[in-house]
Amino acid sequence: MNYKQRKSKFSYFTKIIGAKKTSDLVATGKMSNDSLEKIQLASKLLLMSSLKEHKPNLKNQTNFNKIIGDVLEHRPSNITHNGLVVPKKENSLEYNLFLKFILDFLKESKILGIVDRFISPPQLRIKFGKTKKRKNFNASEHPHSDAWTKYNTDKSYTLYFPIFGDYKNNYVRFFKPKKNFENNWLSPKKFVDGKKILKDYVPLPNLYLMGKYVITDCATLHESVLDHGAKPRISIDTAFIPKGNILRKKYESHIKKETISNIGRKSFFVFKNSFKVSLKNIKKRNKQSLQDRYIYQL
Ligand SMILES: [Fe+2]
Repeated sequence: MNYKQRKSKFSYFTKIIGAKKTSDLVATGKMSNDSLEKIQLASKLLLMSSLKEHKPNLKNQTNFNKIIGDVLEHRPSNITHNGLVVPKKENSLEYNLFLKFILDFLKESKILGIVDRFISPPQLRIKFGKTKKRKNFNASEHPHSDAWTKYNTDKSYTLYFPIFGDYKNNYVRFFKPKKNFENNWLSPKKFVDGKKILKDYVPLPNLYLMGKYVITDCATLHESVLDHGAKPRISIDTAFIPKGNILRKKYESHIKKETISNIGRKSFFVFKNSFKVSLKNIKKRNKQSLQDRYIYQL
């Protein structure tokens, strides 16, 4: 797929969902308050259920900042070093509720209509604030394309939106190519190598706003930004293959839209791994952390 085809496909899809294009391959849209509030509620419950498994005596919180404070203090073992919240057997219910509200939003915004398959089921992320730790070579703070990750492929789109927290100082910056896009920019790379390509891109104005979503073709370079004193944010970044983009290879972790669009209504995810099994152990099995699951049809 060359740049021109990519661009016209993206235009076609953004028209269907009514999103506003900021550049050839980046668009934004509005979320309804109702959707945002439901996703916020389910995110709180999911984080709290993760905490409770480790600290059963912890007080229930309704205040989001306090829940985040507890997560920072107790670091539940189902949250990876880069902040992905991995559902486990014990909090399957909370995850299903979270996923149902995400799917409701995707239906309401018409985004679900353009999805063929998800790279993996959408997951909640807590993006931690500024630390003194050195960036690892594949850290999202390096300018990168999601096409460089094996599972995303160079055919994916990514959807981003903040849910809560310091999204003003802890956000995602997007870039567009100046001109003369080259397809080999999308071949697999380490994120740390993104700098070399960045000189051919220019940053877009800040699009990462509460109540808005950003949708991008994977040819879009982007980076996580942590301004001075940045505190955590809670957010979603989920990738999918849009309709009509044919993949040559089958990926076991990819999940058809039809398989999950009825979660919370007619079907239910059950995760096999308990909180007692550490993420390190799951990783050793060389599978994505969400793959040990089955779907219960109601
Ligand atoms: Fe990314």
